[in-house]
Amino acid sequence: MHRNMHDTFRPMYWKGGRLHLLDQRLLPHEEHWLAYDNAFSVAEAIRDMVVRGAPAIGITAAYAVVLAARDAWRRAGEAWREAIEPALQALAAARPTAVNLFWALDRLRGRFAGITGDPEPALLEEARALHEEDIAANRRMGALGAELIGSVAGVLTHCNTGSLATGGFGTALGVVRTLWQRGQVGTVYADETRPWLQGSRLTAWELVQDGIPVTLVVEGAAASLLGSGRVQWVVVGADRIAANGDVANKVGTCNLAVLARHFGARFMVVAPTSTIDPQAKDGSAIPIETRAPAEVLGCAGRAVAPEGAGAWNPAFDVTPAQLVDAIVTERGVVERPAERGGVASLL
Ligand code: MRU
Repeated sequence: MHRNMHDTFRPMYWKGGRLHLLDQRLLPHEEHWLAYDNAFSVAEAIRDMVVRGAPAIGITAAYAVVLAARDAWRRAGEAWREAIEPALQALAAARPTAVNLFWALDRLRGRFAGITGDPEPALLEEARALHEEDIAANRRMGALGAELIGSVAGVLTHCNTGSLATGGFGTALGVVRTLWQRGQVGTVYADETRPWLQGSRLTAWELVQDGIPVTLVVEGAAASLLGSGRVQWVVVGADRIAANGDVANKVGTCNLAVLARHFGARFMVVAPTSTIDPQAKDGSAIPIETRAPAEVLGCAGRAVAPEGAGAWNPAFDVTPAQLVDAIVTERGVVERPAERGGVASLL
């Protein structure tokens, strides 16, 4: 698929029968690739944040199913459909909030019945298709989002929703990338996104890599930034969108939505339809991952809190649909989802 100077890299690839992942824990200091030939190790990689971001997790899991099927075929031959189950369960248990993980596993599983003989070629074809479709969806959302925004002095984004978080190009960051390519944005602000620093470590790295200037802010500066009038749109991704348009995304997203509404900026969510969970009626049905307190009590491997302090570490929050001005998907845009009965029209 075509790339250009503002879209230069992909976070995973399949080569030589193995899945290769860029280790995102080491960025921005080191670009180190890890190779996997075992689905259980890939499940660990997802859990441990080697790869993260909802669509990237789904694509990684799809390639992991190929590895699991190869192993199951070697061990059990025609009984591979039973033998693969433990690996599928390990993948499904890797992280709970990003629905793209379960969506991808279901899609690959949907191919099982039609396969005769060695399952690897058919499942690899499916995983590759899913990967390419994700990039195409991102490009489409980039165009739709940029059209809705038009020309702006500033946008603020949260976490990392770019090439690193997807099959390539990005969701919210794909809109930012498109705005930049078209000369439609003045300043791109990214907040640092504690505790994993996806904003400063990943979004800033990715934008610098792709020649797009970025201005980092600490999350606590968001009110000052939005109050100053320098930002007209907050543009974020999603890990799961409920049927009514409530949005689960990286913790801190809801803060930005509240601030945007208060200060008169607009709030856009950009996500492929694989991030919509029609089973979740509203945000209260979305499982929110709680991660280890150690991630809050320390930073970059060093303690930043005294021994004896505790921490609560929810990795995501839910933004009510009422605070969302637009949900952009590859199938189209829903403006003010709360007034339109959610996102059902997209499915
Ligand atoms: O914990 P992470 O880094 O996996 O969280 C990622 C996010 O919250 C992203 O905003 C979301 O997955 C959308 S990525 C296109």
